[in-house]
Amino acid sequence: MEANGKAGTRPAGQGGGDYPLREAMERAAGRVRLHMPGHFGRRPPGARLAWRLDLTEVEGLDTLGAPQGVLRDLVRRTAKVYGAEAAWLSVQGATLPVLAGTLALWPARATVAVERHAHRSVLAAAALGDWDIRWVPAATDPEWGVLLPTPPERWAEVLAEPLDGVVVVQPTYEGLAYPLAEVVRRARAVGAVTFVDAAHASHWGRSPALPPHPLEAAPALVAHGLHKTEPALTQTGLLLAGPDAPAERVDDAWRMLGTSSPSYLLLAAIEGYVAARETGDGGWGRFAEEIVTVWEDGRRRGFRILQDEWCRRGGTADPAKLTVRGNGRDMVMRLRRAGIEPEAWGPGWVTLVVGPAQGLPARFWRRFWDVIGPPAEPPAWWHAGGWPEPGPARLRPAAARGAVWERVPLREARGRVAARPLTPYPPGIPAVVPGEEITEAWQETLTRLVAAGVVVEGVEEGSVWVVV
Ligand SMILES: Cc1ncc(COP(=O)(O)O)c(C=O)c1O
Repeated sequence: MEANGKAGTRPAGQGGGDYPLREAMERAAGRVRLHMPGHFGRRPPGARLAWRLDLTEVEGLDTLGAPQGVLRDLVRRTAKVYGAEAAWLSVQGATLPVLAGTLALWPARATVAVERHAHRSVLAAAALGDWDIRWVPAATDPEWGVLLPTPPERWAEVLAEPLDGVVVVQPTYEGLAYPLAEVVRRARAVGAVTFVDAAHASHWGRSPALPPHPLEAAPALVAHGLHKTEPALTQTGLLLAGPDAPAERVDDAWRMLGTSSPSYLLLAAIEGYVAARETGDGGWGRFAEEIVTVWEDGRRRGFRILQDEWCRRGGTADPAKLTVRGNGRDMVMRLRRAGIEPEAWGPGWVTLVVGPAQGLPARFWRRFWDVIGPPAEPPAWWHAGGWPEPGPARLRPAAARGAVWERVPLREARGRVAARPLTPYPPGIPAVVPGEEITEAWQETLTRLVAAGVVVEGVEEGSVWVVV
């Protein structure tokens, strides 16, 4: 299958020396990239970024912390192109927009409901702001094993309790969502504000063929990572304001948490993206229609595609994600043999990031199913099932971080209170959070995952950190 570029062994322009990282990057760049970043190694028109332009806040380049010149103009253009009340430019991924945005809304000791499949940046905000966090347990799809978005009726139950706010992740990592407007409306009715972590949805609303942009539901703030699905450099991100955003508090939090050395290469990449968005849909309208024919082709050949099934169940699915069910290890080996690198995989699935910027021809997709196939079931030992219920919260995350810790073997950790998050990767979502009891079910699940070769961040040489 065609690759985006040529695999090389020596970094371009290097005469010799020891550059194993650069060499590994050259090899990775030579494969067909069905993974983030969303430029897929193809330079968008007009982008000419080089070491020469790696500048700092000198005369004429403005100051990101208090923009008054070219950066203020870029901020305004960004807000306008998204129809936002205000915008903030991030060179620290979606992490800074999540941290600064949520801490601007809830600086200290607020009661906030958070979906359990939230990114660890939300957990960090909860610890920094010492929130009383109310987890909304994530449902796992019993057949696919992926975490599902929270349906509006479940949010209605959550919002029956007094809350200062809610954090909604839209969409999930695999691109699944429910309509947002109902949740925002219900939250507002009980005096709670809504923050939307739309790290993976910066392209939404760019074409009528895509799901609507989260701002249409009028939450207080929306966070994006630009590189996840769009042609922008890694670590570019945005925070966008809806009608109830406390802009002065966001400015304050942004300065407190943001770097004082913003990368102008990344800011220029944001400018390139905004300029492209001002002039068109970036090919998304056509792509969103084409990908549905790829789904249909796969379905005809006996494959199961998560996003296709979710749409047919009446949900909203992002055309930028393609999750195929089967034996994950076999599928990933077949793809890699064909020079294709996927975004993520687990025992029962493979997830790809796709988009118009890839420029993959129709013949790529015609051959794709032969390369990944034949259709197969996940391995018999794998039961998608669900994640166990979270253990009881014994301490707030901030209190667990401030306590004295000790390290104990995972096999002796049952009943102890976690000091650090325990995060299986993939999906990279904390399974046990600081302050929570490590239950028997979680101890067994984590032990099984580690034995199966899954990396669990927080389990080091079979041991975990717990509160003394
Ligand atoms: C839902 C969600 N929010 C926030 C982030 C943080 O984004 P970044 O890694 O760009 O800082 C991620 C990263 O994967 C994410 O999936």
